[in-house]
Amino acid sequence: MAEQTFIMIKPDGVQRGLVGEIISRFEKKGFFLKGLKLISVDRSFAERHYSDLSAKPFFSGLVDYIISGPVVAMVWEGKNVVTTGRKIIGATNPAESAPGTIRGDFAIDIGRSLCNRNVIHGSDSVESGRKEIALWFPEGPVAWSSSVHPWIYEN
Ligand code: CMP
Repeated sequence: MAEQTFIMIKPDGVQRGLVGEIISRFEKKGFFLKGLKLISVDRSFAERHYSDLSAKPFFSGLVDYIISGPVVAMVWEGKNVVTTGRKIIGATNPAESAPGTIRGDFAIDIGRSLCNRNVIHGSDSVESGRKEIALWFPEGPVAWSSSVHPWIYEN
């Protein structure tokens, strides 16, 4: 199976109407959308998603942020999609994200609370992607036949 990553448009990205723009950037790059849902998650789910960060001082603010509104959860597929997806997204702190990246174009800096409102999340490794996809899509991503989109698998 081709490489997959988990991408989440955070509540600020949804509320600001950036969903179409963000999806478009991944589509135009040539990645393949394998799963998508608009979903509101509760505190315990958000804590599970960010469990690796539970010791960080910004953890509770981060969880408050993620549960503050619906998010768009997605699975994207394609060659090097984890690393390239992170390049499309830009650096974690929008103040350091290059123009042309999603955070560089649509966010300014760390937000008012302790929490960094940075529009979007992308898995930081193939293994994290596997875990995050399993958490967010326990039913399995929507699967299209690879024969319908053969060019995705030729890179
Ligand atoms: P994300 O890509 O979702 O991965 C972890 C999140 O933690 C990150 O984006 C930010 O939203 C948040 N985060 C990381 N570092 C900080 C920080 N120094 N202060 C506040 N939030 C942070």
